[in-house]
Amino acid sequence: MIKTVKSVDFKGKRVIMRVDFNVPMKDGVVQDDTRIVAAIPTITYILEQGAASLTLMSHLGDPAKDAAKAKEKAVKDGKVFDEAAYIKGKHRMAPVAAYLAKKLGKPVVFAGEDGCYGKKAFIEGQPDGSVVMLENTRFHKEETAKDTESRDKLAKELASYGEVFVNDAFGTAHRDHASTASIAKFAPVSVAGFLMEKEVAYLEPIVTSPKKPLVAIIGGAKVSSKIAVLESLLKNAHALVIGGGMAYTFLKAQGHTVGKSLVEDDQIGTAKKVLDAAKKLEVEIVLPLDQVAAETFDANAKPIAVDGADLPDNLMGLDVGPKTVAKYKEVIGTAATVVWNGPVGVFEFEAFAKGTEEVAKIVAAATGKGAVTVVGGGDSVAAVNKFGLASQMSHVSTGGGASLELLEGKKLPGIEVCRG
Ligand code: 3PG
Repeated sequence: MIKTVKSVDFKGKRVIMRVDFNVPMKDGVVQDDTRIVAAIPTITYILEQGAASLTLMSHLGDPAKDAAKAKEKAVKDGKVFDEAAYIKGKHRMAPVAAYLAKKLGKPVVFAGEDGCYGKKAFIEGQPDGSVVMLENTRFHKEETAKDTESRDKLAKELASYGEVFVNDAFGTAHRDHASTASIAKFAPVSVAGFLMEKEVAYLEPIVTSPKKPLVAIIGGAKVSSKIAVLESLLKNAHALVIGGGMAYTFLKAQGHTVGKSLVEDDQIGTAKKVLDAAKKLEVEIVLPLDQVAAETFDANAKPIAVDGADLPDNLMGLDVGPKTVAKYKEVIGTAATVVWNGPVGVFEFEAFAKGTEEVAKIVAAATGKGAVTVVGGGDSVAAVNKFGLASQMSHVSTGGGASLELLEGKKLPGIEVCRG
């Protein structure tokens, strides 16, 4: 069990809360506010309970890494790179604070571009019930430092801004960082917010004790990034639907011809092991039965329908066909729990989006029939949003890496610090 904000008396207390406001930004403008909106119930609750102040902190992108990459590209293109302007446009927390203020209908005081240290007096100088937002925690190298001592330096400072630490940053729960986990060593009380509680409530049982039958749909490009989750889900699943680019490594492992499709040859042995384990555990593996292929990986490539699992040398599989969709309907239709991570085709290309759209519709229909349906992972979340079906899922996770690691059965540092 995790401890939540419900177990704390906030009256007159100062609160420091980690949120995941790592939202897509363009020229200082928030492009998708899902994570901001998702934190509002916890923020509102803490304020309504009479907290003296609520200080919010988050990372936004990875300033050092992003700037190094952008600089490398600028140099390659022969352009002048203005690092300060780049960071200001992409990584400053002030526009996010302003955005939150609008959503909350209440001022959010930005604590300054000079970073997260030395803000105690500033916070205590604000009127009662104020919301304060700190600058990007990743502006300090201590936030992500490997050595505990460095992380603890920042963690101790952040902990001094509150008598209660609330972690509502599910999307960052898999990071063992100063503001997500180390801070709990110095905070008198550490609890989860409502978003964290909801994410754990939906995702954890899939690995520990799902309502059965459980059907898992795992897609995406690479077997190597999904192998741990496949192995973990095999233990409880009735069926594993494997789609997307990674399906071709499995099809090749079964002896099918895959043409020019994406294949990880070094993962064929791994795919065979998963297929063998599934056989032993009597878990049905669902691979593409037919496909929509193309000669090139291109949004304008001509879609070619191919019946069967084999592809000729000149084609690559970019989506599944109608026979496969019918099979998905049959298998997912029997589920009491459905978990979906990763698209089954290149849904970003209109001509190859149909399979993923159909999966979204089938999963939405399963919710309607009483199944618990959970969507995790950046791309499948983008897909359900694109097809306007997010509200028809039991839960759409705000975490990419975090939801994947939780489904892998790992313990996440940001969750563990909230355990009772
Ligand atoms: C995410 O977007 O997945 C989280 O905010 C974590 O970000 P990170 O991968 O940069 O740690």
